[in-house]
Amino acid sequence: MDKEEKVKGYKCISCGEEYTINDVEYVCKKCSGNLQVMYNYHLIKKKVSTQDLAHNPDLSIWRYRELLPVSDLSGKPPVHIGWTPLYKTGRLGKKLGLENLYVKDDGRNPSASSKDRAGALVIVHALERGEEVIACASTGNAASSLSCLTAPLGLKTVIFVPVTSPRAKIAQLLVFGATVIAVEGTYDEAYDLCIKAAEEYGWYNRNTGYNPYTREGKKTVSYEICEQLGWECPDKVFVPVGDGNMISGVWKGFVDLFEIGFISRLPQLIACQAEKSDAVKRAFESDGVIRPVSGDTVADSISVRLPRDGAAAVKAIKESKGAAVSVTDDHIIQSIPKLAREAGIFGEPAGVASLAALEKAVLNNMVKEDEKIVVLVTGNGLKDIDSAMKSSGKPFKINPDIKDLRNLVSAEPGAFLM
Ligand SMILES: Cc1ncc(COP(=O)(O)O)c(C=O)c1O
Ligand SMILES: [Zn+2]
Repeated sequence: MDKEEKVKGYKCISCGEEYTINDVEYVCKKCSGNLQVMYNYHLIKKKVSTQDLAHNPDLSIWRYRELLPVSDLSGKPPVHIGWTPLYKTGRLGKKLGLENLYVKDDGRNPSASSKDRAGALVIVHALERGEEVIACASTGNAASSLSCLTAPLGLKTVIFVPVTSPRAKIAQLLVFGATVIAVEGTYDEAYDLCIKAAEEYGWYNRNTGYNPYTREGKKTVSYEICEQLGWECPDKVFVPVGDGNMISGVWKGFVDLFEIGFISRLPQLIACQAEKSDAVKRAFESDGVIRPVSGDTVADSISVRLPRDGAAAVKAIKESKGAAVSVTDDHIIQSIPKLAREAGIFGEPAGVASLAALEKAVLNNMVKEDEKIVVLVTGNGLKDIDSAMKSSGKPFKINPDIKDLRNLVSAEPGAFLM
């Protein structure tokens, strides 16, 4: 189906104003609120079925093209995005007293984070518009994703990141050939600079919580979760939250499936934030208004003073009858080896904040042992080795001599199952 058929228009998340798709590009003209893409579900329903999907060999986000706001996929990035594994993690589940615990390893995307889902949609849209330069501010992952996906298309990419971004993420940007501007400031400052720069130079702007297409890409993770569970909806989904675009995308995905009748109920979403970067949690638990916090956390990808899609995030948590949980940096760091050792998945700090939040939720009796729970791991651990090394111990150092090894085995029998 053509985009014009599928998409009804945009609706402002803050004031409810509606627009046609050609009326506006980024945010609401009346209140600067973020826009939600609205669909003609009754038409889409006639074009897609779970049976058709079962026979669709395309195991990527594009298998859901009828539910995406694009017509022409000829400009899609030629790398594999989506259909990441959903593992039933028996060992981790047992430790937490949960019978049905699943982990979605979204670090298995081409640039190693969930952001590839968002970037892909934005790029297809930008190419449909004939854009030549695309810009983005990011804590690191949105930018490394954009750079990865634009590189094979030859689309010029300008990136604004805080100088403090982990080295691996900066390396990705440089390797993929983006123009990288490391801003001596916070993510929030890089963000505002990117908006000014894109306006001044006429670049297309992919910023999270500004460009309505990012949420449309991120929602595909929920389609996959439901399809991988045999079109069953989980009871609870734990989602790391920074700007709030991911969780609002996750919610959009479930709502889409509910509207077209693929699932018969909706899950509760649990927003997982770092203690000092918890603006969404604070807003959700008070009057719904997003106010700035320090944003100070080791989990760089969810280090945000003023969440740019906060209103949509609060709405998603509320509509899902969900909750918000904040966790300490220590707990986040400890969760890296925990997830790795119990489930074989190496997540970056933000990526495992969801596991830390689940542990806290279990302690606070927020989950029932037989509930179907999905923990979303949004980024791969190789993106931030320094954080991983903080809680993973050290190797034993010896000379290349069997006597040294024997001494070590006697001194540390536990390390050798003896
Ligand atoms: C690994 C990872 N997890 C979670 C998030 C949070 O997404 P959002 O900022 O949309 O809330 C991000 C965003 O950069 C991320 O990179
Ligand atoms: Zn508005």
